Parts: sequence; structure tokens; C-alpha cells
Amino acid sequence: MKKVLVVTYSQSGQLNDIVNNVLKEFNNDVEIVTENLKPDPPFPFPWTNVAFWDAMPDAVDLIPAKLKPFSFNPDEDFDLIILGFPIWFLSPAIPITSFLKSAEAARVMKGKPVVTIIGARNMWVNAQEDIKRMILNNGGKLVGNMALRDKANNIASVVTIIYWMMTAKKDRLWGIFPKPGISDKDIAAAERFGKPIYEALESGNYNDLQNKLLELGAIDLVPNVVFMELRAKKFFYKWSKFIRKKGEHGDPNRISRLKMFKWYLLIAIFAASPIAILLFYLFLPLTWWSFRKKLAYFKGVELKNK
Ligand SMILES: Cc1cc2nc3c(=O)[nH]c(=O)nc-3n(C[C@H](O)[C@H](O)[C@H](O)COP(=O)(O)O)c2cc1C
Repeated sequence: MKKVLVVTYSQSGQLNDIVNNVLKEFNNDVEIVTENLKPDPPFPFPWTNVAFWDAMPDAVDLIPAKLKPFSFNPDEDFDLIILGFPIWFLSPAIPITSFLKSAEAARVMKGKPVVTIIGARNMWVNAQEDIKRMILNNGGKLVGNMALRDKANNIASVVTIIYWMMTAKKDRLWGIFPKPGISDKDIAAAERFGKPIYEALESGNYNDLQNKLLELGAIDLVPNVVFMELRAKKFFYKWSKFIRKKGEHGDPNRISRLKMFKWYLLIAIFAASPIAILLFYLFLPLTWWSFRKKLAYFKGVELKNK
């Protein structure tokens, strides 16, 4: 009997719904061990204003937080590890970083195939590079990735995600904005990704898994969103360094710099990003060939610059 370890973190349950739908395709002859990560203390949901922005430097710089003890046995021999996680500030959510940097993850992951399932707003490619590196550091091998996203317009989804995160209400703001997060239809349709993963698990051959997932639409990248995300992350590293000079997570001394970052980000999204998109499309004829290569790379499971 094949054994699969499923490690997830989800605040609203959205990511867990996606993972559970993928697992529906697994027959009863697979033993599934589930580990829902529990930060200690938990990150608030709904978020408070300060806690939300205070998560940025730690998420970006991959600083682990304390997790409650795991219930899985890290010395058990699993055939496959599935990691399901959201993205925080263009980086892996802090709890998944904390797991990947733990001694238990290194033990359980060594020599094992790993499949990642992302549930994000729409910007996840930078974070996945961090995830690839952490899996590799643990001796694991990334064999498949799927990324579900909010398909609403970029600016509208910023408004709705802030509303959802600050209220924990996944409904339409003022009855005019789209529903926040990944659509119910896309969450339900994630079931289709289970079959190729199950078949690869049964055969022990993962060579073609990512291609099969891509054929099913596991990743659809929006070029101008990827363009903005790649630029933004460089600034996030600078902001993180600037904020951490005032103290580490929870230090009230850094609140004024967190507020500065908040306003910087809101102005960048609402005022600067429409101009950036315009410039992106203006110069696209000159950059398309090299940019296309980048998009193809982000759809894959390889890690450049190991
Ligand atoms: C602090 C924070 C930062 C986030 N930053 C991003 C981001 O940079 N890119 C993105 O696509 N989604 C971002 N999101 C949305 C999450 O990836 C995710 O879709 C949402 O939190 C729901 O996940 P859940 O399953 O934990 O409820 C962020 C969410 C939070 C709470």
C-alpha cells in the first residue's frame, strides 16, 4: 500500500478544500497521513492591521515561526509528500517555511518526490522559487506543481483580499466587488489534477507528471502580473531589511516602518501598477522572446541557480 504525507496550512480553509478535492481521485488503496500546520501562537484570522503587515519581513526573509509539535512520524517511509500552502507577500506563508526548515521535514523529505499545491491571489512565482530551494535543501525532489489563483482583475482582487483577510468574510464587498479568493468552480475543478498524481504514485514514475498537470491547466500565468511580481519582490527585500533594523517580529519599534511599507504598497498597486502595465505592453514586442522563456521556466519544477 502506498503512503502519502499531506502537509497543509490554510487559514480560511480554502487551500484545504483544494487539496481535499485533488485527493478525491486517490483510491482507497492509498494511506494518507495529513498534517495541518499549527503556528504557536496562531496567526490571527481575521487579521489585525498590525499583525498583517508585521508578517511581511518574516515571510520575505524566510524566518521560521514556532509550530505546534507535528503528529506525523518523520521517520516513516512515505512514497510521496504533498505540500499545500498559500502565498504571503510574494513568499511562502510563514508556517510552510517553518515546516520546510524543521529537522522533521529534512528527515521525512530526504529522497522523496514532492508535489506542491498553491492557493494564492495571483502572485506566487517568486515564492515557488523559495519553496523549490527549501525542498532541495531537504533532499526532496519537486515533481509536480499546480497553482490556483483568483481570476478577478488584479486591482479588484487586492481590494477583495484585504476585505476578506480583515473580516474573514468571503462575500461580495458592497454587493459590487467579485467574491474574494479562488472561485468555487475552480476549487471544485481541482479534482482533475488528482488522477495524474495518483497514476504517478502507483507507477513510481513522476517523469512526465508536470507536463500532464500543465495539459490539464495546472498553471496559467498572466504575463503582466508576473512582470510586476518579479519587480516588486526586489523592493520587498529592501523594505524587509529596513523594517528589521528596528526589531524582529512583534517588536512595537517597527510599527512606524510597517505603516510606511503599507502606504508604499497601496500606492504602488493603485497608482503605479497601471502605468507599469502600460509600459510592459508597450515594450512587449522587444522583450517577448526572453519573457516567454521566463514564463516557461515558472511553469516547470526545475530550479535555476541552485
Ligand atoms: C499576509 C498575507 C499576504 C498575502 N500575500 C499574497 C501575495 O503576495 N500573493 C498572492 O497571490 N496572494 C497573497 N495572499 C493571499 C493568500 O495567498 C491566500 O490566497 C489567502 O490568504 C487564502 O488562503 P488560506 O487558504 O490560508 O485561507 C496573502 C494573504 C495574506 C494573509
